Amino acid sequence: MRHGIRFYVGNECHTLADVAPTRTLLDWLREDRGLTGTKEGCNEGDCGACTVLVVRLEGDRLVWRAVNACIQFVSMLDGAQVLTIEDVRAPDGSLHPVQQAMVDQHGSQCGFCTPGFVMSMVAGRKADGLAQDEHAIDDMLAGNLCRCTGYAPIVRAMRQAMEAGPDHFDAQAHAIADRLRALRDGATVELGGPAGRLTIPATGDALAQTMLADPDARIVAGATDVGLWVTKGMRDLPHIVTIGQVPDLRRIECSADGVYLGAAVTWQEARAALADILPQPDAEVIRRIGSVQVRNSGTVCGNIANGSPIGDGPPVLIAAGAKLHLRRGDARRVIALEDFFIDYGKQDRAPGEFVEGVSIPRPTPDTVVRAWKVSKRFDQDISAILGAFSLTIAPDGTITNARVAFGGMAATPRRASRTEAALEGRKWDETTLAAARQAMMDDFAPITDMRASDWYRRTVAANLLTRLYADCGPRDARAQTSVRAACTAAGEHAHG
Ligand SMILES: Cc1cc2nc3c(=O)[nH]c(=O)nc-3n(C[C@H](O)[C@H](O)[C@H](O)COP(=O)(O)OP(=O)(O)OC[C@H]3O[C@@H](n4cnc5c(N)ncnc54)[C@H](O)[C@@H]3O)c2cc1C
Ligand code: FES
Ligand code: FES
Repeated sequence: MRHGIRFYVGNECHTLADVAPTRTLLDWLREDRGLTGTKEGCNEGDCGACTVLVVRLEGDRLVWRAVNACIQFVSMLDGAQVLTIEDVRAPDGSLHPVQQAMVDQHGSQCGFCTPGFVMSMVAGRKADGLAQDEHAIDDMLAGNLCRCTGYAPIVRAMRQAMEAGPDHFDAQAHAIADRLRALRDGATVELGGPAGRLTIPATGDALAQTMLADPDARIVAGATDVGLWVTKGMRDLPHIVTIGQVPDLRRIECSADGVYLGAAVTWQEARAALADILPQPDAEVIRRIGSVQVRNSGTVCGNIANGSPIGDGPPVLIAAGAKLHLRRGDARRVIALEDFFIDYGKQDRAPGEFVEGVSIPRPTPDTVVRAWKVSKRFDQDISAILGAFSLTIAPDGTITNARVAFGGMAATPRRASRTEAALEGRKWDETTLAAARQAMMDDFAPITDMRASDWYRRTVAANLLTRLYADCGPRDARAQTSVRAACTAAGEHAHG
């Protein structure tokens, strides 16, 4: 047992034994360390002004991740090295290639957003495949807002920076890996004080024991939901249990049957495995969950456990037939993901029980899985509606299995059982489409709120079925003008 968290900021090692478990990294950097280069904009993960790099040793590989310091608790950094804008200039005083490119391309005006952009860009240079994907730079910068400069010069600066050779962090990689390796001791961490209690379990068993002993403890995975309860909700969390680095929960297993994701696997880490079995939902939905910074911290299972009716993961995973793995003490159970969501704010989770992981089956070759997220903004926005569909279609065009799930249409993510019944056993043609659209009206009674009216939600939900038909209906259906028109309308909503 260790009674202090240990991590580096730049090249300086810190051991904190009395930090408040929910003290944000941003406040700690700025107020306790005087490192004011990292800025506070929104304090809720949206603007990216607070972006820092968190470097970790995964096995023997260093990973560099841009995260929002405003919704990251300093207690989550045990075993990591944090790099801030103060570390970016080279030891000889010269500008980092990203900084130089921002100067050359006029990528900054008021400068408030600039440190965050620079940190995202430094991290982006270390990401694989950036040069190959024309949208990758846009995606990479979607979590950083600039209201002065405009994005074109910043994107040009990123292109220039990608052409530059290795930076001084590359030169230090071995030294960073060595010092992070030296921090590994496999110990569970316990901190307690007037500001609250922190447990960082070293294993899944230690986590299970902690949760049995204190079922009211709050599990924190990536803190992209919980962080806001603290910074915006001003909630006290007397005991937090940080699970982000529990090795048993970090597993990603890919097999012929499908994919298993442990509860500490982030959206960003899960993407390659998910893209392999669910390519369209990955490109259309998962790519649009928050921003790189949010996906670098937020976990797939945190999205599920949070139980939001507008979480993007659950409808996609429900349609795909996912199963949730739960553990309480030594007892384990596996349930269909849809059965986890009982009512608004109520999930099928007993006191002391926690989510261990989620498994997603590989679709059969005759199954199509599609999902569309409809939100007011393309990037960094919460869904108004998310529709996800899985249809198994026999060679004669009969739908032999249908799974349809929606977010934003009810108090929980939910299957559309009447719609599924209208599809199953029928030929996938316009008559079936019309029946399914009608059934959809009976499946849900959505609410009107600031994101959408009930009318809009029902209309878009039905239009997403039409879009599904246009996208993967019988070949000749795609040529029909009526279908194309409806599809375009739905598409405009989706990207408007
Ligand atoms: C700027 C911003 C943009 C966002 N955009 C999107 C978006 O586009 N789409 C979307 O769906 N979400 C979005 N989110 C919400 C959030 O990022 C996701 O819900 C994320 O997946 C949550 O994961 P986490 O690991 O951060 O959860 P945490 O915040 O750590 O935890 C969330 C909840 O789950 C519980 N929990 C976590 N892990 C477990 C476990 N293993 N067992 C039991 N309980 C557990 C926690 O106790 C807490 O109640 C956004 C958030 C922010 C800040
Ligand atoms: S201050 Fe806006 S994302 Fe952190
Ligand atoms: S330079 Fe002013 S907000 Fe970006």
